[in-house]
Amino acid sequence: MATILITGGTGFIGRHLCQRLIADNWQVIVLTRNSKAGARQLPGTVRLVGNLDQLEAELIIDAVVNLAGEPLAEGRWTAARKERFYSSRIGTTEQLCSFFAARTQRPKVVISGSAIGFYGAGNGGISPVDECSPAVDNFSHQLCSSWEQSASAFEALGARLVYLRTGIVLGHGGALEKMLPPFKLALGGPIGDGQQWMPWIHIKDMVALIMYCLSSEDIAGAVNATAPNPVSNTDFSKTLGAVLHRPAFLTMPALVVKILFGQMGEELLLQGQQVIPRKVRDSGFNFQYPLIEPALRDLLSNKK
Ligand SMILES: NC(=O)c1ccc[n+]([C@@H]2O[C@H](COP(=O)([O-])OP(=O)(O)OC[C@H]3O[C@@H](n4cnc5c(N)ncnc54)[C@H](OP(=O)(O)O)[C@@H]3O)[C@@H](O)[C@H]2O)c1
Repeated sequence: MATILITGGTGFIGRHLCQRLIADNWQVIVLTRNSKAGARQLPGTVRLVGNLDQLEAELIIDAVVNLAGEPLAEGRWTAARKERFYSSRIGTTEQLCSFFAARTQRPKVVISGSAIGFYGAGNGGISPVDECSPAVDNFSHQLCSSWEQSASAFEALGARLVYLRTGIVLGHGGALEKMLPPFKLALGGPIGDGQQWMPWIHIKDMVALIMYCLSSEDIAGAVNATAPNPVSNTDFSKTLGAVLHRPAFLTMPALVVKILFGQMGEELLLQGQQVIPRKVRDSGFNFQYPLIEPALRDLLSNKK
């Protein structure tokens, strides 16, 4: 039985990943700030640790998935919150690297978090963005870039390192849960001019893609964790409205978004690049949900 250490394992993506790993017979260890809450959220076979020092020197850890991070979309980006975005991601990653640097046994593979925010601002451009594309500088880019750099120390420890540049993960929870209320009330619609891209991924494909990266020896470096068919914000809104049988024409003006949400609204809601998952697509990964409409139908029919 192989052993995996996960940070952020109690989160939206982490909880789904833990279930899949347990089903595939992994021994799962989750580093968490709150073991009591973790015990309620995760299967009983998951070992919860509050501190890396709890892990025995002789324990062999084959793989690491590093997802911990203060949520970005929960409100305005104050200076204090920006500091927590950094410390929760880069601080946790540095702790992990120091922990393994001090051990003789090191993981063979490390999957570390990042996001499509790495590519920075974009607004309806026609050129697809893959893992080799240059980034546009903004706060999201700087945060993701620092997160990736902090994880790069794992390469010096001999691990195969993958940076997951994750898109908007659609599932029960996460971003979709926040979008649903206005759409259900027929108050949904495009945000700003609606031209901004929304690279998305179904939670089942997200978990499958992480499992694929764990087992595929040829995958390393940046990996775009997004479905192969990103949609514009207008097309996403139309499709969500159609799946819910609700009109979705009420536009939220860009100015209102900026007043309500400040920089968070500008970078997460009004901007977005046409990110495509070239690396895993070229390597033969099969998406179960490559298109937005079947993905939303699957998720929303299960919610009844
Ligand atoms: N979901 C998406 O659509 C999406 C898109 C792009 C990138 N990502 C990135 O992928 C990662 C996982 O996403 P998710 O949606 O599963 O996140 P999530 O549900 O918000 O969970 C993140 C986990 O990180 C830990 N955490 C939160 N605040 C922290 C803090 N201040 N210090 C240390 N740990 C903290 C928590 O674990 P404990 O409470 O157990 O410590 C939490 O379970 C995140 O870093 C996120 O930025 C997600």
